[in-house]
Amino acid sequence: MRKPVMAGNWKMNCDNDEAKALADGVTARGGQVEDALVILCPPATALTSVFSSIANSNVKLGGQNMYWEEDGAFTGELSAMMLLSCGCEHVIVGHSERRGRFGTMDEADADDLAAVFGDTDATVNRKAKAALAAGLKPIICCGELLGERKGGKTDEVVASQVRAALAGISADETANIIVAYEPVWAIGTGEVCDADEADRVCGMVRATVAEVYSQDVADAMRILYGGSMKPDNVEGLMAKPNIDGGLVGGAALKADSFGALIDAAAASAG
Ligand code: 13P
Repeated sequence: MRKPVMAGNWKMNCDNDEAKALADGVTARGGQVEDALVILCPPATALTSVFSSIANSNVKLGGQNMYWEEDGAFTGELSAMMLLSCGCEHVIVGHSERRGRFGTMDEADADDLAAVFGDTDATVNRKAKAALAAGLKPIICCGELLGERKGGKTDEVVASQVRAALAGISADETANIIVAYEPVWAIGTGEVCDADEADRVCGMVRATVAEVYSQDVADAMRILYGGSMKPDNVEGLMAKPNIDGGLVGGAALKADSFGALIDAAAASAG
């Protein structure tokens, strides 16, 4: 069975003191949960302080992004080894915001910001491979823009992101991969994806993984939903067969609401 996951992506929020307080709160609230894997992904500046907060708990640490080279003249970038040295076990790769795809933007706007933030299907794949090679577990993100959904392209866009991200990765390595389906129009907008539809797309992602590898690999892979997940909608989402957890932004920034999400994930186990 797939152990549920509840991962908090804090994005560009929390200075060190705030991060420490939030991590302390999450650890006090859900730090001993065993039926769900809890992951905190603070900004890079707060990794070390959050790691000290989660010591002696079951909570794991993740980075929000990484670069695929091991070291060198790459100003502002972080390597897998650096994340590992801060205590990370996980790293988010290919978040829609790193792909320059935000909120309800259409495809034209996305092209501009893609140049700022830079992730493409090809770089997401390189990052995922470098993470795995270094011993970090990537949380690979995929998801369609509102315009792509309205144009009936959801499955095509999401499946092609998943195939591209997994290119050249062996079946053995997939045990260390989590996929997160995050419809871009549902991120930070308060507009959660209908649970049946989120389950359908997560099922489509699982079928894509089965085509790339095998049904066994697909059955073992954790596939998360992300996009305005909150305490009042988490149960409906977690009840779905193809949704194994959440990748959470806004509701992860308060220990109480994230604690409620952890409880729901743990309750869905088994
Ligand atoms: P929200 O939960 O704020 O919609 O963000 C989701 C997300 O992007 C997590 O990676």
